[in-house]
Amino acid sequence: MKALILVGGLGTRLRPLTINTPKAMLPVLNRPFMAHVVENLTQHGITEIIFTRGHLAGQMESYFNESYSSGIEFAFVDEAQPLGTAGGIKNCQSYLGNEAFFVLNGDVYANIDLTSMLRFHKEKGALATIALTPVANPSAFGLVETETDGRIRRFVEKPLPEEVTTDMINAGCYILEPEVLEFIKPATNVSIEKETFQLFLKDKQPFFGWSDRTSYWIDIGSCDKYIQLVADMLSGRCTCSTAPPPGVHLGEGTVVEPSARIEGHVVIGRHCRIGAGAEITGPAVIGDNCLTGDGAVISASILWDGCQVAGGSSVLDSVVAEKCCLSPGSRVSGSILADGVYVPSGAFLGNCRIWPGTIITN
Ligand code: GDD
Ligand code: MG
Repeated sequence: MKALILVGGLGTRLRPLTINTPKAMLPVLNRPFMAHVVENLTQHGITEIIFTRGHLAGQMESYFNESYSSGIEFAFVDEAQPLGTAGGIKNCQSYLGNEAFFVLNGDVYANIDLTSMLRFHKEKGALATIALTPVANPSAFGLVETETDGRIRRFVEKPLPEEVTTDMINAGCYILEPEVLEFIKPATNVSIEKETFQLFLKDKQPFFGWSDRTSYWIDIGSCDKYIQLVADMLSGRCTCSTAPPPGVHLGEGTVVEPSARIEGHVVIGRHCRIGAGAEITGPAVIGDNCLTGDGAVISASILWDGCQVAGGSSVLDSVVAEKCCLSPGSRVSGSILADGVYVPSGAFLGNCRIWPGTIITN
């Protein structure tokens, strides 16, 4: 079966991390986010994946073409300008064939049982089935009201407080029959949530919601949610075949000085050095080729590849992207540093978002 993954968004709420890295490629446990999603799909018999591309798409194409040599085929379909969620699907029509296919929002990680969802879709004779998941506040999502048999009664994208009648939302995972494509105008920006789904309701099409109240589900569209997914994968709250068991994991060639202390759930990449007396407290991830100087402290943080955290400096509750350099005695707390940021000796960054390549001065 085929799956189409929508990866055309700009990831604006994840800036500055998404300025040089597309949302789908943000490192999660030192692998691109999308690699975890793809592994999950292969467990449900999906053998062909079509990415609808946009922002910084070349990075995805090279990663997937180099990392997977057999068993799964990838196609990458360009959008010269954003076509919206339905327009992006329509744009892939020639790749989709004449069988039902999955569509996934490219920023969602979920342990949805896609095999059971497909069975439900077939049993109902549905034109379209949406996976539904509960959230505390549906206002940032697509609210979905269903009848007792699962038929969708109402779909409200980003409901106002007075429109919130249920906690069930669109989980960003659909099964669509190929006839759905006839409802979408070609070469036009069309939203599946605001336009196509509304047409199904108006036409009384067999349009169903498949409720899943128990599986792990997250949309990593903001920095907080990205950090949360990493912590949940580390602790085992999000079970996933691509995550190691909870505990401390060191990559090949990494050297930890005997007096360093590593506690909690921590993943450290390859060829790193953790200096004498350094303290690493999970949930934390350190990328490949990172240097942590003597007495440095890293706690509840994510460091991407190639970072240097010099002696006596600290990183707390932060994300530090590729090749950042923290000088001796500097402190970073509650902050997001994009790639290549330089922090001078003794500086303190609290609750900041720093753009790529910034050289902080004292
Ligand atoms: N190809 C393509 N073209 N993809 C797009 C475009 C586009 O023009 N616009 C957005 N996307 C992709 C994004 O990259 C993302 O993977 C997905 O479509 C959804 O877009 P978001 O911008 O993340 O939407 P959202 O999170 O506010 O809301 C959506 O997801 C919620 C679940 O997380 C909606 O589908 C809601 O109904 C849903 O509840
Ligand atoms: Mg989203």
